[in-house]
Amino acid sequence: KANGQAGQNFEQRKWEDEVIHTALPHFGSLDKEAKSNQPKYDYILDEEIQFVQQLTIPGVNELLQYKEKSKINEHEDENKRKHRSLQESRKTLPIYRFREDLMNAIRDHQVLIIEGETGSGKTTQLTQYLYEEGYCEPDTENVEEEEEEEEEDYDDDDNIKLPNGKKKKEKKMMMIGCTQPRRVAAMSVAARVAEEMNVKLGREVGYAIRFEDCSSERTIIKYMTDGMLLREFLSEPDLASYSVLIVDEAHERTLHTDILFGLVKDIARFRPKLKLLISSATLDAEKFSQFFDDAPIFRIPGRRFPVDIYYTKAPEADYIDAAVVTVLQIHVTQPLGDVLVFLTGQEEIETANEMLLERTRKLGTKIKELIILPIYSTLPSDMQIRIFEPAPPGARKVILATNIAETSLTIDGIHYVIDPGFCKQKTYNARNGMEALTITPISKASANQRAGRAGRVAPGKCFRLYTSWAYQHELDDNSIPEIQRTNLGNVVLLLKSLGINDLVNFDYMDPPPMETLRLAFEQLYALGALNHKVELTKLGRRMAEFPLDPMLSKTILASETYKCSAEILTIVSMLSVNNSIFFRPKDKTLLADTARQGFFTPGGDHLTLLNVYNQWKDTNYSTQWCYENFIQFRSMNRARQVRDQLEALMERVEIEIQSNPADTIGIRKAICSGFFYHTAKFSKNGMYKTVRHQQSVLIHPNSCLFDQIPRYVIYFELVLTTKEYMRQVIEIENEWLRETAPHFYKTKKLDDDNKVKKMPKVLGKIKAELERNYS
Ligand code: CDP
Ligand code: MG
Repeated sequence: KANGQAGQNFEQRKWEDEVIHTALPHFGSLDKEAKSNQPKYDYILDEEIQFVQQLTIPGVNELLQYKEKSKINEHEDENKRKHRSLQESRKTLPIYRFREDLMNAIRDHQVLIIEGETGSGKTTQLTQYLYEEGYCEPDTENVEEEEEEEEEDYDDDDNIKLPNGKKKKEKKMMMIGCTQPRRVAAMSVAARVAEEMNVKLGREVGYAIRFEDCSSERTIIKYMTDGMLLREFLSEPDLASYSVLIVDEAHERTLHTDILFGLVKDIARFRPKLKLLISSATLDAEKFSQFFDDAPIFRIPGRRFPVDIYYTKAPEADYIDAAVVTVLQIHVTQPLGDVLVFLTGQEEIETANEMLLERTRKLGTKIKELIILPIYSTLPSDMQIRIFEPAPPGARKVILATNIAETSLTIDGIHYVIDPGFCKQKTYNARNGMEALTITPISKASANQRAGRAGRVAPGKCFRLYTSWAYQHELDDNSIPEIQRTNLGNVVLLLKSLGINDLVNFDYMDPPPMETLRLAFEQLYALGALNHKVELTKLGRRMAEFPLDPMLSKTILASETYKCSAEILTIVSMLSVNNSIFFRPKDKTLLADTARQGFFTPGGDHLTLLNVYNQWKDTNYSTQWCYENFIQFRSMNRARQVRDQLEALMERVEIEIQSNPADTIGIRKAICSGFFYHTAKFSKNGMYKTVRHQQSVLIHPNSCLFDQIPRYVIYFELVLTTKEYMRQVIEIENEWLRETAPHFYKTKKLDDDNKVKKMPKVLGKIKAELERNYS
């Protein structure tokens, strides 16, 4: 087993013979961007100006103006230079030489499947080409109609000059929308394209992710998560503002992308002018083509160099340690070139980061500089940008990434890839409705994508921390699409609000499991979002306004009844970032735990979270306070952002913001109205049993109720570590269940066995229909 002594183990670690990937044809080598050698004038000039401002000598104003002017000019020059070099580098991308053919194909076909190696320029270039080709020009037919209407108004008003509105309408540009499965990708790609087009992010080029809209009236190129476009159907069912929709990274097959497939296919039928592009990195193109009525496939040959693949001789017991050792081996023995390591999540990345820091510190100046850069979806954006900066001369970058770097982000300069062969995947057990994130082996398709990251700029090497036998025999060919391994409650509610009633016969690329769909109906019925005929209720329609899990939306709506919407909004926002509120540095665990316990509030963890937020608010959202109390400032800030967004949505459902902090019963009843499904009853030896499925679970040791053992609790989520733990728990009274969930609980008390109501007949019918369809 490796002991972390860099440099000594490279020979000892036995790698199987390499398998050499043959190179696809490539088109010239990538010219590095010309570096500008501009001096840092800003700083000096500011100082000078400050100095001059202190004097009152005649002529000083002229001097100041002159300086200001030259500052602007210099800025302009630098901007121009940068813009020019960016424009040059756009031309080096593989997609560039196919631009004309591609535009012709798009002109001739309504739906086009575009397949191209990661990094060929699909995501950043397609939108710009389409814009340059005039796809954002206003739709003249519609505008004329609107103009006439405007003119009538104008006649009535006689002398008054037309309001700007007319001009705007006349000029109202169409949008090009591009979806991304990941928020980080949507943000970073939008930033890149804004830079290439030399516009301010959020204006002509913008992005929208959940709880954050960085777009405006002027936006014509809009990047967004697939989930956000799905929500746009609610306000604009035909997506009339878009002239082109690009469903990007289609191969990721996220739940939202899969649902979008069915919806955009449908609107394309009655909007003949709409262009639909499905873009994908890997070999699923045929499948997409089939689904979209045999739409043509446009293939962009990638630029790819050979990648040598190394396997370990024996399975690795600890792949994080093995990855760290491999990084150091590469660093010490291999020529310069950056390293990309695939890990499964933030925790692993942080562990690996610490291990690398410690071991490089021990090696001191014996080794060259190693710059360690983490990247995962919840990493603050200023930190994310750093991974794109080139390493200084003589140094090596090592990027510790989640799956996000597999296809959604292209980082230049990677020569070495380390692939432990795992990723974190959501799994869903439709029998008991339990969702879990588990570390799962990746598919062969993923493994090959990962290896490909090493061969973008030069021949590369990929170190697989598993055996060649495992690759051949243990990895599936492709990953299972998310729709088949997740809870569908949210999507069913959304589709129902779009008026799509027949979800059994919806146009799925791969249908969800019957049991999952049935359970989604059942939960929505129990929540009161669907009636006994499985139609959307008024409550359901209001719930759909929130981009949240139905249980959380219901909780918010119930806060109206209990007159505590302000508190519930805070709790829901805190829950959305709950895993990262408390900070627990390894060298100060005792202090950190004491600080955390100081926030404990009777009633449970939700109230504790509320307490943390309110105390923070009382300090006027102080950073210092967070620091002193071992609270993560960034998470708190995020919760605050989420809360602001949710508060804005409250107007749409006409709920007044009312505060009632003392009524902890009302607050808990509101939570109960949304989370009654998550009730557990104490059984024995510290164990609880879930009411719905009689599953044995425990209160998480971090909970403030850990050693109190209340009889009935409601939990926010279950996490599976060594045991099944309930995380974020509140104590409830038995009687509240019947009050808050009359559809679900039959008897007043939960003490007899037959406590859960039978579901209405129509759900049985749906079940029968599902069975017919799936047989
Ligand atoms: O979508 P696809 O994988 O085909 O490529 P892309 O994301 O459009 O990336 C094309 C090029 O843009 C990459 O090779 C990067 O050099 C550059 N890029 C960047 O520098 N920063 C970003 N945030 C995104 C792309
Ligand atoms: Mg892309």
